[in-house]
Amino acid sequence: MAGTKCIITGVPGVGKTTVITEALKRLEEAGRPYAYLSFGSFMFEVAAKKGLVKNRDEMRLLGKDDQRQLQQEAAGEIARIDGDVIVDTHASVKTPKGYLPGLPEWVLEALRPDLFVLIETDEDQILGRRFGDPSRIRDLDTYGALRSHQSFNRAIAAAYAMKTGCTVAIVTNADHLLDRAVDQLVTLLS
Ligand code: AP5
Repeated sequence: MAGTKCIITGVPGVGKTTVITEALKRLEEAGRPYAYLSFGSFMFEVAAKKGLVKNRDEMRLLGKDDQRQLQQEAAGEIARIDGDVIVDTHASVKTPKGYLPGLPEWVLEALRPDLFVLIETDEDQILGRRFGDPSRIRDLDTYGALRSHQSFNRAIAAAYAMKTGCTVAIVTNADHLLDRAVDQLVTLLS
């Protein structure tokens, strides 16, 4: 049985990993466990072995061909994992040469998602979270740039749905309302 494959995305700093972590705990308690796979971690493992990067935040600065190769290798590994799976990744990645699709055709075909989730919130909240996270090297985007990125992600999610027939859901992770975002995600995955 192939299981349910859910792809969860959101611009860096939106809190996607925080929401997913809490939702996974609740789903486990409810007897509906999902395996958690971080696409970025699969990519980073290969990139670090090849000596291309020292941390995960350097990956979005690599050349397009390197990033595409890493995507392909990560997708191949993830595609081999059966059952109910959450893939934590990006609808698009902001690179120095423009937005790179997080799921180009060959990645989409390998992953075959049933559900595609966009985690979003207001741009000022995302900026605040990026400034407040010294553990990472975050892009210092403007409000407008972040708005464009979130809007581009909605557009490309529609293209992914057209290609695969998956559904697309938007979960809002607003400041001080983490529980509401977690509730929404748990409902989608139950
Ligand atoms: P990835 O590992 O996905 O890193 P990321 O984008 O930085 O995302 P995080 O996992 O850190 O989560 P987050 O930023 O959404 O938020 P967090 O939960 O930490 O990707 C790493 C790299 O891999 C990418 O940059 C890219 O290069 C590459 N990659 C991945 N997929 C790819 C693909 N398909 N193609 C090409 N490259 C790919 O939370 C942030 C902060 O917000 C925390 O401090 C948290 O406490 C706070 N917070 C969260 N929720 C709330 C709330 N409701 N209220 C207040 N504060 C909150």
